[in-house]
Amino acid sequence: MIVRKTPAELEKMRAAGMLVYRILQELSGMVKEGVTTLDLENVAEKMMKDAGARPAFKNYFVPAVGQRYRFVLCTSVNDEVVHGLPSARRVLQPGDIVKIDTGVELNGYFGDSAVTVPVGSIAPQLQKLLDVTRDSLELAIQQVRAGNRLFDVCAAVEQHVTTNGFGIVREFVGHGIGTQLHEEPQVPNYVDRKNENPRLKEGMVLAIEPMVNAGKPETRVGSDKWTAKTKDGSYSAHFEHCVAVTSNGPWVLTRP
Ligand code: MF3
Ligand code: CO
Repeated sequence: MIVRKTPAELEKMRAAGMLVYRILQELSGMVKEGVTTLDLENVAEKMMKDAGARPAFKNYFVPAVGQRYRFVLCTSVNDEVVHGLPSARRVLQPGDIVKIDTGVELNGYFGDSAVTVPVGSIAPQLQKLLDVTRDSLELAIQQVRAGNRLFDVCAAVEQHVTTNGFGIVREFVGHGIGTQLHEEPQVPNYVDRKNENPRLKEGMVLAIEPMVNAGKPETRVGSDKWTAKTKDGSYSAHFEHCVAVTSNGPWVLTRP
């Protein structure tokens, strides 16, 4: 069942979403040569605490791994796709890209968002990967309207990424969000005809999160049991927003 939120509930999700936005803005500004991914983690954790929010990822049980996650951020660098573990040993270098993914629970409601940030200047073809991934999310957001169907959202990502020749990750998907970090429905970045294709209705909220590889789509989980990397070593980009269906069209809860 897809839970629909009242306008008052959407306002609470907005508050959670804007806290996530502020955190990602702060961390994006910190990204520079020599900064470690643990530095980002520590700032994010303090901002959550100061705001009276609970980190949504820390202690979150992930069935596929069979463990609880131990950090407030996922920081995935270059060929790492998702669930990169913040570490004092992971020192950012010029030409890297770092995916910062985080979520909070504030007053019972969740927000979840991710950005890919370049470290210094990056190669033009890598910039194109970031642009195509971000644009695919924007095109998907435009489909979050009452009367459309879930597959309209999924197809928007798939078409844009495929047209540009990049690989769509299939093992990780977006999701509904509300009083739980992960609610129904699953939101794959491609049309999965095995799934249902519900009509979108006012009050539904989707976390849309394209994960796009410069090369082939396949991923592999590393020896830490968490970090998923591209199999072919190509770099991967990730952007995520929470988007509500309203009578005025899509409302992106995780940005101003
Ligand atoms: N990256 C996932 C998402 O955006 C959530 C992280 S799972 C956790 O939905 F293990 F990090 F908590
Ligand atoms: Co998410």
